[in-house]
Amino acid sequence: MSFPSVDPIPLPAPIWLMKLLSDVTLALHFSAVMILVGSLILVCWHNGLGRNRGSADQVSASFTLARRLPVLMTFVINLGIPPLLFLQTLYGRAIYSSSVLIAVMWISVIFLVMLDYWLIYRLVAAIENKKSGLGIGLLALCITMGIGQIYSKNMTLMLRPEVWQQMYTHSTMGLQGYHGDPTTTPRWLFVMCGGLVFGGLWALMLSNMGHITDGVRTHLRKSGGALTALGGVLQIGCALRVVSSQPEAVRTAIGSHALYTISGILFLATILVTALLGAFQGAKAVSNIPLAVTGLLTGFLSAAGAVIYRDGIRDMTLLQKGYDVWQQTESSNWSVIGLFLLLFVIMLGILFWLLMVMKKATAPVEQVTL
Ligand code: HEM
Repeated sequence: MSFPSVDPIPLPAPIWLMKLLSDVTLALHFSAVMILVGSLILVCWHNGLGRNRGSADQVSASFTLARRLPVLMTFVINLGIPPLLFLQTLYGRAIYSSSVLIAVMWISVIFLVMLDYWLIYRLVAAIENKKSGLGIGLLALCITMGIGQIYSKNMTLMLRPEVWQQMYTHSTMGLQGYHGDPTTTPRWLFVMCGGLVFGGLWALMLSNMGHITDGVRTHLRKSGGALTALGGVLQIGCALRVVSSQPEAVRTAIGSHALYTISGILFLATILVTALLGAFQGAKAVSNIPLAVTGLLTGFLSAAGAVIYRDGIRDMTLLQKGYDVWQQTESSNWSVIGLFLLLFVIMLGILFWLLMVMKKATAPVEQVTL
């Protein structure tokens, strides 16, 4: 098959460790992406409806969600970088080939993320200045979903070495896209529907802040709970579609692997619990921090289960095309790995400290007038 020849540089850490770190950081990246997508949906909903009804509380609910979007975007980007590094190290021969073929679309992600970032700042400013945030919010949502599309296209094309030669013969300019693969849309929709789940969980979490009014709290709880429950059901549907759209041989290979079976069950069990928790909080408009945190934790576990299963789809697909990720030469550099893990723990400590500082800080103004 058409994979470029083996990289002469051996891998600097055990493959299992890289895969573990890749899966953990990708689950975090997905969680951040999904909160971003869901928050944008809720901002548009509350801002559009709130202005229409003349409800200052509902517009304030949109502001509470919107003013956290720039920070969320930082998490999306920073949590995307580690899995990108592991992806290149473990699957470089596949991902570099697909990225070159759709080079223009792939590189456009950088500019689209910058545009998205700018729009998010404009969105916050618009709501703060009593203007409508609906148009800007919808545009930012479309761009965010478009970026996700490009990722799904590249992550699918990297698994299709059989079309690379033909695509390269067709154009060497990197101007083409990748269309017609039945697995791309289901996997993209899976993450986008996860946006409903995580956006809802995020709204439920924010509804527990002490300095918002009861009116804002109720809007966040009702919409957050309903969105989580709806998203959970839709995500299960998308997950079934992702699996059924895979070639028969890939499905059989995954089905015979205990790790992927367990991760599939983990996803299903935790997404159901998450949806039920959301439905409960939304229907009763009651929530508290333990409930909201439990929802976010079960939501994260569902993302982790899905990420491991997704890794299985990739490995089983590539294996059938002659690329065995476990067969690469490894020459572990333990002093560097040790230093990396030490810095990782220090970073977690700093994050915790920053969160504590934030907790003690004076509460920001969340209420906006019409
Ligand atoms: C608004 C911005 C972003 C959105 C909406 C987004 C969305 C997505 C989606 C939907 C996927 C899954 C694709 C699939 O498998 O079908 C994905 C994967 C990925 N994203 Fe993001 N992403 C964003 C920004 C970024 C950034 C800035 C980075 C890196 C700096 C990044 C790194 C990655 C990596 C490395 C993967 C795949 C990892 C793997 O397969 O091992 N993403 N992203």
